[in-house]
Amino acid sequence: MLIRIKPSHALTQQDVTSEAHFATRRQVIRGLGTAGLGAGLVAGLVAGMGGVAVSSPSAQASTGDLGTLRNSSFSTSEKQTSYKDITTYNNFYEFGLDKGDPARHAHRLKTRPWTITVDGEVHNPQTIDIDNLIKLAPLEERIYRMRCVEGWSMVIPWSGVPLKALLDKVEPTGKAKFVSFETAAVSGQMPGLRSRVLDWPYREGLRLDEAQHPLTLLAVGLYGKTLLNQNGAPVRLVVPWKYGFKGIKSIVRIRVTERMPKTSWNLSAPQEYGFYANVNPAVDHPRWSQATERRIGDFFRRDTLPFNGYGDDVASLYKGMNLKRFY
Ligand code: MTE
Repeated sequence: MLIRIKPSHALTQQDVTSEAHFATRRQVIRGLGTAGLGAGLVAGLVAGMGGVAVSSPSAQASTGDLGTLRNSSFSTSEKQTSYKDITTYNNFYEFGLDKGDPARHAHRLKTRPWTITVDGEVHNPQTIDIDNLIKLAPLEERIYRMRCVEGWSMVIPWSGVPLKALLDKVEPTGKAKFVSFETAAVSGQMPGLRSRVLDWPYREGLRLDEAQHPLTLLAVGLYGKTLLNQNGAPVRLVVPWKYGFKGIKSIVRIRVTERMPKTSWNLSAPQEYGFYANVNPAVDHPRWSQATERRIGDFFRRDTLPFNGYGDDVASLYKGMNLKRFY
């Protein structure tokens, strides 16, 4: 049996915030947010939406223990971001634009029963229940860096299965070249859908070889527990060499396609967000530099690494491409 070996720097259970502490923490985070932690994907696009009032503490969706996890050689040994920060400083616009909104509102999303439909250019299309998806391959812990396009980053111990395990099950046809993903859009449960900042549902995409890459993960948990809704329960994508917006949350549909799929951020601001969106300190966002990042929990900014530090594993995927052009 494979045993999960917890790195010495990993936090213990005592470090995991109790639900009662969330409200206080959120207020601190909100304060930091206005001190320039995030440039904001939508800054300038949403003038007039107004500030977001701090609502009463919401019931957090509960988490379950994921049991024994296979350890992964892809994991970084860098200091992990605290569970509190990972679960209270979020981007999930279906629940609002403020970094604290997902922790406040995402418990409204019902994540059971939950199915994911996988179809398109595949020999074996299917609708798979989340509880069966989790059994597609042994659950692994992957401690990955995550770099948001806004200029902040975290180190997150995800639990999940390689996306490739699901793609192998549906057997892409010879025409398959891309994979598209869609988030649930349930208006009664997602208050952010009222704002038209994006054309809902949230959509993302990868080239097939990127989707099949061993680093690409379907995450169902973090810190060894099932995902909280604000982090994309019950299942979200993690592509650690790309900007965080590629990591689509609460996935209900995956479609294998011949053509490059449309993606939400690219549709909304094509001059700012490309399809590939590989982390690249040499290509600035039109409104801010991408050369450095603020690791949440740290004071000083640090240099951003090409491909977020995963270049040895993925740079070969882009051989011959002008990476400035294919931002
Ligand atoms: N997925 C959906 N459906 N909606 C979103 O607004 N935000 C993206 C990505 N996935 C987003 C999403 C962005 S911009 C980032 S940086 C990451 O989720 C943040 O993930 P986290 O909140 O778990 O850190």
